[in-house]
Amino acid sequence: MKKLAVIGDPINHSLSPKLHNFWLKKYNIDGEYKALRIDSKNLEKEVTRIIEDGYIGFNITIPHKERIKYLCDEVSEESNIIGAINTVHINNEGIIKGYNTDCLGFYRNILDNLSENDNLGKSALIIGCGGASRAIIYSLYKNNFKNIFITNRTKEKADNLKSDIDKYIEFCDIEVIKWEEKDNYLPEADLVVNTTSLGMGGNNNLEISMDGSKKSTIFTDIVYTPLETNFLKRAKYQGNKIIDGLGMFLYQASYSFGIWFGVTPEVDKESRDLIINELNSRK
Ligand code: ATR
Repeated sequence: MKKLAVIGDPINHSLSPKLHNFWLKKYNIDGEYKALRIDSKNLEKEVTRIIEDGYIGFNITIPHKERIKYLCDEVSEESNIIGAINTVHINNEGIIKGYNTDCLGFYRNILDNLSENDNLGKSALIIGCGGASRAIIYSLYKNNFKNIFITNRTKEKADNLKSDIDKYIEFCDIEVIKWEEKDNYLPEADLVVNTTSLGMGGNNNLEISMDGSKKSTIFTDIVYTPLETNFLKRAKYQGNKIIDGLGMFLYQASYSFGIWFGVTPEVDKESRDLIINELNSRK
């Protein structure tokens, strides 16, 4: 039986077991995907243990996405640049390789939701500079975005992100803007992404003025609880296209599954409803 897991701390809330076990069954793979809580101080010991235990791969979530790199034999190009790994595969020779599927997942979700009349453009405003933001910025760079404005409550983190990524990219300007000035840059953006946890159930909403934004600007959020955050609701109300964050979660998982099994599950209504129902049952 193929053993898989998601490792993190906390981990109880993770939806990954639900989704991957559904796909394992769907593709007739004899396997099991578990959620394993691993404390930061035991990361090395526990990862060694699960590999010895025969696991063929695992996903990584907060707070281990950066440190896991030091336990890998190889690291993919994108995860090296992004500085975070969310997927590990242990191959038949026992080589441990790290990947980042958040970047592919983010962009695929955007593409999947575009219709003929939509214009994705070349200029983006990225709100928040955590781990997810790095993957998103890299995916936009890879897909020919030319101007990426980044802003973060703690500006130092935005400055660090820029200096980390700048050395790997060309023909794309990453500009750090002050948190208080983000309203001024929104009208310039073709795509606006909330990568902070603002708007998630129980948290404050993202405060941003949408005055002067283009009719064609697309708004998206990585938060998917609720599916339509206050930020997305406001953008929709003024007539802009919105893309919710659930697709990014589903696609990053689908790409991880592809790394482990060579088959990339379709992200369809069935998989989306599976997660929506699970979220509703937890309310
Ligand atoms: P993820 O992996 O999902 O990106 P993360 O690395 O913890 O998670 O990043 C969380 C992001 O949400 C950060 O940009 C964080 O801003 P700070 O760097 O200033 O902490 C942002 N964030 C969280 N709470 C916030 C709040 N109340 N106001 C503004 N930004 C917030």
